Amino acid sequence: MTAPDLPAELKAALDARLHGLSRTDAAARAAVISRTYRDGGGSGAIRSETDALAYALARMPATYAAVIASLNAVREITPGFAPKSLLDVGAGPGTASWAAAESFPSLQSFSLLDANPVLRALALDLGRGSTRLRDPNYQRGEARAALAEAEAADLVVASYMIGEISESERSALAALMWAKTRDTLLIVEPGTPAGYARIMTLRKQLIASGAHVAAPCPHDGQCPLLAPDWCHFTQRLPRSRAHKQLKSAELPYEDEKFSYLALTRAPVARHPARVLAQPDATKVAVTAKLCTDRGVISAVAPRRDKAAYARFRRYNWGDAVFEGGPPSAE
Ligand SMILES: C[S@@+](CC[C@H](N)C(=O)[O-])C[C@H]1O[C@@H](n2cnc3c(N)ncnc32)[C@H](O)[C@@H]1O
Repeated sequence: MTAPDLPAELKAALDARLHGLSRTDAAARAAVISRTYRDGGGSGAIRSETDALAYALARMPATYAAVIASLNAVREITPGFAPKSLLDVGAGPGTASWAAAESFPSLQSFSLLDANPVLRALALDLGRGSTRLRDPNYQRGEARAALAEAEAADLVVASYMIGEISESERSALAALMWAKTRDTLLIVEPGTPAGYARIMTLRKQLIASGAHVAAPCPHDGQCPLLAPDWCHFTQRLPRSRAHKQLKSAELPYEDEKFSYLALTRAPVARHPARVLAQPDATKVAVTAKLCTDRGVISAVAPRRDKAAYARFRRYNWGDAVFEGGPPSAE
């Protein structure tokens, strides 16, 4: 599976742009951008070259890690999937394209689209020296209009983008993205109740249009989670020195919470369950919260059942459960 840290080429390209950049200015711009996001605004606050770079330094490592984790889940469920073409919707600095290129060596063509000119310029600049993202076709424009013109692709990705589209336009955008999907559509959102709710609405719409859920759900039925619970995952990633400076952070890592949905045109071989939280391991038993086609269960592997206990010890939040299926509920 692919590692969650930025590929060396991208790290080097970002580092090269740090020279001559005032860290104080960049930190101030990153703070304004984060505040705009927290207040429900979008990336409209990203207007200058410095804004774009500040955004990329602050957020690209985490959104990249979330897309990699989601693509790892897709690869686990559909190991034969070898897309040749990618369409990255709301591509921004190109994060999901880098993640897809790293996850799928089979990719040969990269189409990106976004309304923001400074993020587009940064994406093209970052990709300039890349051996993988050569000759990307990056259209600048409003998503629906640009998508209508775009060619269909084997893999379509919208990463941290749907939340910036008004509620009234989301359904039409989702239908267009699905129409442009030859094989797999991946939507990644922040791992908040609001991000999860947006994904659930699109899930229902696209299943009704014939899509099959590949991940994270082990079924195409209704999500069994009830508010205030929501389906989300977490990905730990290393923090660079520049990131620590920019965010005034001490810890050498950050944990990115994300929600995602991968839909396929063809039905997939089902995994019996998905681990929905970090399992609770004691000396007596391991208890895991699992999503199954029978609903959410709390599955217990007692220590006296050596094989099940050992198996459960290996489970992590977000894992697909294959071996032996989920044991009976508590
Ligand atoms: C939070 S950024 C995410 C960028 C990138 N996908 C990532 O994961 O890092 C959201 C992106 O969606 C783009 N976007 C938002 N609304 C859009 C629209 N209506 N048409 C095209 N792009 C849009 C923004 O310009 C921005 O680049």
